[in-house]
Amino acid sequence: QAQDAAAGEKVFTKCKACHVADQDQNRVGPSLMNVIGRTAGTHPNYQYSAAMKEAGQKGLVWSNETLSQYLKDPKAMVKGTKMAFAGLKDDKDIADVIAYLDQFSKK
Ligand code: HEM
Repeated sequence: QAQDAAAGEKVFTKCKACHVADQDQNRVGPSLMNVIGRTAGTHPNYQYSAAMKEAGQKGLVWSNETLSQYLKDPKAMVKGTKMAFAGLKDDKDIADVIAYLDQFSKK
């Protein structure tokens, strides 16, 4: 899947205004290092919206499936999220950016 992750690195330029994935550093958005397997809204020292914290409290954990749904239409999945991003329309872009994020997540 190295090829998909390389394509995903290009897709990630759309996320870079607000996120880093290769370092544990919060910016406008929370660091996406180790996001796969993270309960939504739980990166320490990041000030999430009430909506994102509540989603995590209700059991939302970031996986291939939940990230696919979120990245397609963030505000539809987590109503009230402060992530100001319309989402990715292309399913291959979504799969590729998740492959990219997966490289920076412990399994
Ligand atoms: C939250 C991914 C683009 C700002 C999140 C979360 C994920 C994510 C998985 C939840 C993290 C967690 O629960 O710890 C992505 C990806 C992007 C993208 C893969 C590109 C395809 C952006 C952009 C912005 C942004 C462009 C800024 C304009 C935020 C903010 C949050 C967030 C502010 C916190 C949301 C809240 O507390 O409601 N993002 N994001 N993201 N993202 Fe993004």
